[in-house]
Amino acid sequence: MGEACRRSMELLLAIADAYGYGKLIKIRSAHISGISYKNIGDSGLEFIRDLAESGGFVRVKATMNPCGFDLDKPWLFDVDEEFYKKQMEIVRLLKLMGVEETLTCTPYYAGNNPREGDHIAWAESSAVIYSNSVLGAYTDREGGPSALAAALTGRAALTPAHTDEGRMPEVKVKVHYKPRDYADWGLLGYVVGMREPRLIPLLEGVKAGSRDELKYLSAGFGASSSAPMFWLKRGEGCEGGVIEVDVSEVKSVREKWSLTRRPTVVFIGCPHCSLKELRSIAEELKEKKVRRDVKLLISTSRSVYERAVKEGVEEVIRRSGGLLVKDTCLIVSPMRLSKSDVILTDSAKTAHYAQTMTRAMIALGGRRRCLREAVES
Ligand code: F3S
Repeated sequence: MGEACRRSMELLLAIADAYGYGKLIKIRSAHISGISYKNIGDSGLEFIRDLAESGGFVRVKATMNPCGFDLDKPWLFDVDEEFYKKQMEIVRLLKLMGVEETLTCTPYYAGNNPREGDHIAWAESSAVIYSNSVLGAYTDREGGPSALAAALTGRAALTPAHTDEGRMPEVKVKVHYKPRDYADWGLLGYVVGMREPRLIPLLEGVKAGSRDELKYLSAGFGASSSAPMFWLKRGEGCEGGVIEVDVSEVKSVREKWSLTRRPTVVFIGCPHCSLKELRSIAEELKEKKVRRDVKLLISTSRSVYERAVKEGVEEVIRRSGGLLVKDTCLIVSPMRLSKSDVILTDSAKTAHYAQTMTRAMIALGGRRRCLREAVES
């Protein structure tokens, strides 16, 4: 066993010991977060370098979360020379260890597709919740270092999220609210997560949505909860308590993020957009022009981007003045935003994080509203 593998095993065993299991389990894939230099800084870079220089190499399929900029358009993200060099070094070292340069928070659109019952080690809360709750895989909410250690060993620490008992619903949530668009789905997940942030909820009264809708539900839930998953249907029910979530509760969170001034930045694509979403955005933007005083930023994965280019979807968005980017997002990029900026997004997750990392005003609106505000009338 090489040095990097030995150190990774030690880290994973320490986690498994902390949970009282003291055991590792084999995994089928890993997804590694903490890729942006903005988030991990020099200490994160040195951690990755140490493993790469100690001969680390992945033993299972492993993919990367977004980094600080679109590797083909770094100038769009206020990246200085130091940031650029260090970000490229992080990506280079991870590739050297065999991690695929997917740079997306939707690895399930990029060939990392766990099957029901697979044990995996994924970081990135939105992807973790989605893989557990929608795809039926088993993963804990790994951090960047533990997901990388898992990739290098092909093992994860055994924790409750990898056991059927540890995944039982702990609270029933009766939902009296019908989400109508992606923003609503994200908001619903966010509100449910806020109510009982440590418990696995069983959602009652929610009609299973499309994969994209469930992606937004997962991202919103992951932003306010520390639980590894939710349940949408489960025959045996739930032995925990019951809480209710109604329209007024969702409305009061939405009001906190209402739009009171014209946006300067409209951001769509948290989590990264699917091809289906990009097609419908292009349809909305056809023959329209983005206002000169607005930056319309739409983020996706590079695999979806390539398909969007082939289909002509990227061209429609570009011609309208919208910026379709890959590899990154508003939250993990170093883009400078000031007090005078107003960010309008349709993602509860972006709204949640943007309010803590920038002084800009944050507003949440449906996809149609976002696009309407971005274009000339
Ligand atoms: Fe993805 Fe960035 Fe949102 S990494 S889930 S688009 S905060």
